Amino acid sequence: MTIVPLVTKASPTEPALRSRGGPRIARLASGPVPAREDVAAFRAALRHLAGGVSVITTGRGEDRTGLTATSVASLSAEPPTLMFGLNLASSSFPVLARHRSFAVNFLNAAQKQIADRFAGRGGEKGAARYAGASWSTGPSGSPLLDGALAALDCEVEELIERHSHAIVIGRVREIRLGGDDAALLYWRGDYERLGWMAEEASTALGLRSL
Ligand SMILES: Cc1cc2nc3c(=O)[nH]c(=O)nc-3n(C[C@H](O)[C@H](O)[C@H](O)COP(=O)(O)O)c2cc1C
Repeated sequence: MTIVPLVTKASPTEPALRSRGGPRIARLASGPVPAREDVAAFRAALRHLAGGVSVITTGRGEDRTGLTATSVASLSAEPPTLMFGLNLASSSFPVLARHRSFAVNFLNAAQKQIADRFAGRGGEKGAARYAGASWSTGPSGSPLLDGALAALDCEVEELIERHSHAIVIGRVREIRLGGDDAALLYWRGDYERLGWMAEEASTALGLRSL
């Protein structure tokens, strides 16, 4: 096995982890400020972690905003709680911290545009991110996306600030289950899909004509 200390010759786009030959091991420095190469190696590894894409909504009325997130994970089923990582510098953090509530909407494969809008790719901010899709209001006041694979309305149980992010722990208060459509994933810097949209599945099974 080859050990590649990440100290020189790596560029942010092509870190030392990427090279001809077999797998490489990167030893990361332990100081408080990570080396640029170490961060690049970390990003290069995390690109391979496929993640389901969610839109997290928070706030209400004109004081609502939200983000696209792949860091959502289940924390416990009893009681139902989930968590995600939220960048402290994002426009969503102060709104979520003030309202102490949010909703997680699991996107289907046909909802890429919504993901882009909530990632801020077109430059929209705040309530403008909600344009072009249909929403209902959950018990906490957070918007729930009509047509999501599932939407979970949550109260903030705990916010743990660590490094650049907060770990947000939410207690689930309402669950809306949508259809069995294909899921939207993010993998290696791009959107992917997993499974079939319900319509495609019925066509393939001969239940519906083209
Ligand atoms: C696929 C994808 C996944 C993302 N996952 C997260 C995440 O888990 N946590 C997070 O804070 N931001 C995540 N972001 C970034 C946010 O969607 C958003 O760009 C960021 O909060 C900045 O938004 P702002 O314009 O509201 O400040 C992700 C972006 C994309 C495209």
